[in-house]
Amino acid sequence: MDYKQYVKIVEDWPKKGIKFKDITPLMDNGKAFKSAVDEIVEFASKKEIDIVVGPEARGFIIGCPVSYALEVGFAPVRKEGKLPREVIKVDYGLEYGTNVLTIHKDAIKPGQRVLITDDLLATGGTIEATIQLVEELGGVVAGCAFIIELSYLDGMKKLDGYDVLSLMSY
Ligand code: PRP
Repeated sequence: MDYKQYVKIVEDWPKKGIKFKDITPLMDNGKAFKSAVDEIVEFASKKEIDIVVGPEARGFIIGCPVSYALEVGFAPVRKEGKLPREVIKVDYGLEYGTNVLTIHKDAIKPGQRVLITDDLLATGGTIEATIQLVEELGGVVAGCAFIIELSYLDGMKKLDGYDVLSLMSY
């Protein structure tokens, strides 16, 4: 499917000079969203995934239907102060700004095979931090899947050696 027809480019958002790629029109469209989720499920289907992990907030939108289809659980990675129990945390850099990501300490058991999902790969800071959290808990990152990749920001370079799917690239 040509997913780019469902992406709206928003100039100067959230800051001047940034051309934001809005994929909400893709998610608004039932057929396009299902097709995108199905492609990620297909990518993951032979990887013996035990659990899907997605970073807040848009990683949840992609990861939850994928985990449902794979019949495995979903573990949220959240910004600091959002998870109620004991967490591990990591600092990370964003395309615009910095932040802290956390995961519950017992979210992943050592040796579990993990699929990480997010809507967008930009600088790769978020995925790198998410991988760090998963691996610190002993999880094995079996794959990373994105709807969209901004190749000019070189996020893919942070994913050397990992099995990565992105459904479209700018
Ligand atoms: C966006 C996007 C990815 C991340 C990609 O999330 O959903 O998670 O940025 O950028 P990176 O590759 O440069 O790290 P954001 O941090 O804006 O959080 P949100 O989904 O809660 O809005």
